[in-house]
This record gives sequence, C-alpha cells and structure tokens, in this order.
Amino acid sequence: MTIAKLNDKINTLISELVYQISLFRHRKKLPILSNTDQLIAKSLKGEGIYITSLENLDLPSTAQMLERANSYAAIMKSPINIQSGYKLPQIYTVTDLPEFFTWGIEERLQNIVENYIGLPIAFHGVHMRKDFPNEQQLQTLLWHKDAEDRRMIKVIIYLHNVTEKHGAFEYIPLPANLLDWYNYYRINYALWKSNFLGINDQQMISFIPKSAWKYCPGKAGTVIFVDPRNVLHHGTVRSEARSTLFFTYTSNSPKRPELCTQYNDDTFIKPKKQ
Ligand SMILES: [Fe+2]
Repeated sequence: MTIAKLNDKINTLISELVYQISLFRHRKKLPILSNTDQLIAKSLKGEGIYITSLENLDLPSTAQMLERANSYAAIMKSPINIQSGYKLPQIYTVTDLPEFFTWGIEERLQNIVENYIGLPIAFHGVHMRKDFPNEQQLQTLLWHKDAEDRRMIKVIIYLHNVTEKHGAFEYIPLPANLLDWYNYYRINYALWKSNFLGINDQQMISFIPKSAWKYCPGKAGTVIFVDPRNVLHHGTVRSEARSTLFFTYTSNSPKRPELCTQYNDDTFIKPKKQ
C-alpha cells in the first residue's frame, strides 16, 4: 500500500470516528416528536422510507406551495438536448421562491428529518422536476444510490396521480437479514464497477428478485420520505410525463458538500420570483 493510500484510509477512519461521536453527542438534543411523527422517523430508521400524503401531513404552508408548484408544472417543457436517444428531464431550482422554501423549513418536517439523520441538519433546496417519456433505462432510471452524505432525506411529492404510465419511484427496502446484507454488498460492488452510474433491471434481478422490489404508484399529493443514500432506488420507464418536487436535506456537515450546491445554485433553471 502506498503512503497516499494509507493516508486516505486513516483520514476515512478518523472522519467516521468523528461522525459517530457527533451522533452520540447530538442524541440528547434531538427534537421531541409527536406520536405520528415518531412513526415516520421509526420507519425511516428501519426501512429507509415512509410514504404518506400532503393531506395526512397537513402542514400549514401546503396550499400555497402546491398552487405555485402546479402552475409551474403546467408550463415546464422538455429541454432541447437529447443525449443518445434519452430525453433529459426539465429541472427548475425553486429554492428561492418563498412558497417552496417555507414548506421546506416547516418545523415539523425539519424535526422529523433531524431525528432520522441524528445531527443538526441543512436544508439544501427544492427541485421541481418534469420527467418525459423514456423507454430506455438510462440515467436516474438506472438503479443507484445518491452520494451527498452518510444519511440524507429527500422528500418527494407527486403533483398528479402517478401510475405505471408515468414511471413511479421504485426502491428496495434496506437489508433486514444476513442474506440481504450479502446481496447489498454484491450490489455495492456492481455499482462501484459501473462508476456509480447505476445498474439496470436485468442486473438487479441477478441480485434481488423482482418480487422484493417496491413499486410506488400514488395519488396526487403522495409524499415519499426516503434516504436515497442508503436505499437502492430509481425512476422507472414511462410513456407519459411525470411532475414531482424534491426537497433535499443532509446533516449540516455533509460528506460531499460539492454535490449539495446543485439544489440552490445556477446548475438548473431558476424561475424568477413573481
Ligand atoms: Fe437518486
């Protein structure tokens, strides 16, 4: 092993140790949750996901946020650039628009996320996203994991009824036993070999049977809390466009801060405040 590699290993170990100590120290400072919200945090810790609805969450700023989201969903068009037959999604960064920001910092929401992440959190922003029909399994349609932090949360909102035609979100629950862990390990290796671009359905079937995959169609207003760093997930092929919102949270010292800027910088279109 070279000195540089040894250094890398030592640095990783130290940063993991610091992370574990921070988790331990913050445990007593975590906000107290209501019984309903405890259920969400518990499900996130066990399965990495919790599915509910805007109606059930009943946050005070939902109506204004939804009204603005629907008005953008109606005007979002496909970007012109098509990469080798794959129609790219249209993404708006709506973080600076007060309707979205206010929803993202709703105290109850932040408290749930902090309980799951276990550290003080950072809310990075909101992407409004329209995905267009694609028959080929490429990009985020490949099975993958996000990489921003050790634990993170994306809150995904469906802006209309999402059926198989619209290509719902699909995931694989976190490993629950030794065999699951072994399969997850093999998948992590396959992801590494793909340069973390992702693996397709055929490859995934060779690790985990399709019967264990969880497909998530849902009505308009479906809310998916998910840790996309730890849960294997992807969008699915679709014949009709799908409009969604993605709210992104990590700890306040994410492992890969450079990946978090896209939620509030100029990487994507920023609609003007009206
Ligand atoms: Fe993802």
